[in-house]
Amino acid sequence: MKKYNAVIFDLDGVICHTDKYHYQAWKAVADELGIYFDEEINNRLRGVSRMESFEIILERYEGEMSEEEKECWTTKKNDIYKELLKNMSPADLSAEVKETLDDLRANGHKLAIGSSSKNARFILGQLGLGEYFDAISDGNNISKSKPDPEVFVKAAEYVDEQADKCLVVEDAKAGLQAAIAGGMDCAAIGDAVASGLGTYNLSAFADLLKVTAK
Ligand code: BG6
Ligand code: MG
Repeated sequence: MKKYNAVIFDLDGVICHTDKYHYQAWKAVADELGIYFDEEINNRLRGVSRMESFEIILERYEGEMSEEEKECWTTKKNDIYKELLKNMSPADLSAEVKETLDDLRANGHKLAIGSSSKNARFILGQLGLGEYFDAISDGNNISKSKPDPEVFVKAAEYVDEQADKCLVVEDAKAGLQAAIAGGMDCAAIGDAVASGLGTYNLSAFADLLKVTAK
């Protein structure tokens, strides 16, 4: 019996790298509002929903803003972001990621996405992975964002597996917290390693093959 039947992947920062596009789009909005914004603040937005991200940016805003105005600004950010995402193509999917996914599948693992993003399906399409995953749980099917476990609990449901048979792969602390809250083991990659919350720490995506071989 395998330790894990399913692997649930965060998208942004794990399967692909959209940080620079998020940064550019938020920076355009922040500049227009006269709010200071830099890469360090951008790092705090990892795994956090669009509106919660804007609330973090607004910590440095002097004025008052109505909910309607917030809607307008986040829509604007998303319009800019979606334009930038059009630059993505299958060339943005690394050979290591694709080969590891293929090997995990060949080893009998179900593969799912657990992303806070409402653009997840669009991004997967750009990468040429539109039909690849067994299930996609994203920002459109959740009411609570990471660190709430909802997005991963739904992904486990969609692939019909118990939490303890799922492994989550995450680059954000909030994502690791979400996996733990959902009763799932988690593999930290990139920035998330420093949090010390991962059941495993990956130094490369392909390390997943070792972790899941048990
Ligand atoms: C997450 C990103 O995957 O999606 C966050 O890490 C982002 O930075 C969130 O805010 C929501 O994304 P979107 O595409 O719905 O605005
Ligand atoms: Mg991420």
